[in-house]
Amino acid sequence: MLISFEGIDGSGKSTQISLLKDYLTTAGKSVHLFREPGGTNISESIRSILLNPEFDINPVTELLLFSSARSQLISMEVIPLLNAGDIVILDRFYDSTVAYQGYGRESKHLDEIHQINRVASHHIVPDVTFYLRLSWDESKKRTEHMQKDRMEKSGDAFFERVIQGYDDLAKEESRYKTIDATLSREQIHALILEYLSEIDPDLNF
Ligand code: ADP
Ligand code: TYD
Repeated sequence: MLISFEGIDGSGKSTQISLLKDYLTTAGKSVHLFREPGGTNISESIRSILLNPEFDINPVTELLLFSSARSQLISMEVIPLLNAGDIVILDRFYDSTVAYQGYGRESKHLDEIHQINRVASHHIVPDVTFYLRLSWDESKKRTEHMQKDRMEKSGDAFFERVIQGYDDLAKEESRYKTIDATLSREQIHALILEYLSEIDPDLNF
């Protein structure tokens, strides 16, 4: 089973992923977690280029770098684990590319981004995507004390467009489960378990 988490920076993805991973592991499941961009030595090296605030990166270069990091992770790590029957949790996947490089960077070619996503993900699709929905104002409050990477310096209008991108994806994709990220950590965790047991009753929660 492939589970992806999406949402703007500070929406609580890492918090929920950690709760879910612990829960599934305690339940005896074999669970693996990867973050995007990252998860292999090559993908982590690409991550350090992408997030370096000193670099001025062209939007197409940015799109292709995120996609290269993804291709390496999915082919070398994720597909073998899925084939072995394990659970893989992704902290961001190709929907981030639609939201950030497509909507955020105001690409005129969303269709091309979807095509690149298919290639870079080697045509795998998540079984479920948890979208933690948070307003940009709330996100800023949660992250104001944190140091900003290159993407996080993209400005208010950029992040409002990213949210619009996720909202559109949530309408288009039946795999999306949208969750109000202002609920408590415990409420969100309980909702995620509820959704997962609907998708796969064999998980036996
Ligand atoms: P992300 O991985 O999406 O960037 P994090 O899980 O790192 O988000 O959470 C960002 C900040 O918000 C952290 O300080 C975290 O403790 C806090 N946080 C996470 N979930 C909640 C929640 N449900 N309510 C309030 N604050 C939260
Ligand atoms: P990260 O610290 O992992 O995200 P978060 O702050 O939510 O914990 O940083 C990854 C950044 O890269 C984040 O700002 C989103 C961005 N990103 C894209 O722009 N496109 C992508 O395809 C991916 C995977 C991430």
